Amino acid sequence: MKGLRALVTAGPTHEPIDPVRFIANRSSGKQGYAIARGLQKQGAQVILVSGPTNLADPAGMTVIHVETAREMLAAVESSLPVDVAVFCAAVVDWRVKTESAGKIKKVEGAPPPVLKLVPNPDILATISQRTKDRPRLCVGFAAETDNVIENARKKRLAKGCDWILANDVSPGTGTFGGDTNQVHLITAAGVEDWMTLNKDEVGDRLAGRIKDAVAAMPTGSAR
Ligand code: CTP
Repeated sequence: MKGLRALVTAGPTHEPIDPVRFIANRSSGKQGYAIARGLQKQGAQVILVSGPTNLADPAGMTVIHVETAREMLAAVESSLPVDVAVFCAAVVDWRVKTESAGKIKKVEGAPPPVLKLVPNPDILATISQRTKDRPRLCVGFAAETDNVIENARKKRLAKGCDWILANDVSPGTGTFGGDTNQVHLITAAGVEDWMTLNKDEVGDRLAGRIKDAVAAMPTGSAR
């Protein structure tokens, strides 16, 4: 992939409630970082857009740190054009409508506060449905606990990405925070079961598949 630019989103987002509290999720960022390293091993110039994680920045690539979904979208858009984009981040779907400037205090005898949520932008769908500067290959993830493959198939079509990795995140799979992942690669051609692999192996295997797909593309689009 020498001379090609690849972008990867990774980790959770944090959506502030007030200066001390936020909405987040259990994503560790490990899978996204492993994909970024896999693409780098294939020779790509990698841009990693990462939500808050405990992981060290991988050497030799551009790492952009963000907190919120809106910051992540802005960082992705400002990194275009890229040849390939993999959207692995567990973006928080809703944010609090108005972040409180001061810490929300408990008031004796008063009911708990009610948080008004509004939807965050869908980064994968926004980039996959662009007409200008759409990456030649857009790859999403689908974190599912039920009807994993069926839901992922629907997500691929609804969001307009080329490939989606159906990711079983049911309790007991150990996906969140763990070192292994259970994925199925879904393309227009069908479904491939990758079984349980180490996250580094998923990153390497996906990067290899991406390299082959991009090499087989005539001049522009993967579609
Ligand atoms: N995604 C995104 N922006 C969002 C939500 C999701 O870019 N606001 C991307 C993720 O990075 C992933 C894909 O969309 O590549 C699917 O994310 P997932 O959490 O599985 O699904 P959702 O779209 O959030 O739908 P649901 O929570 O209903 O399963």
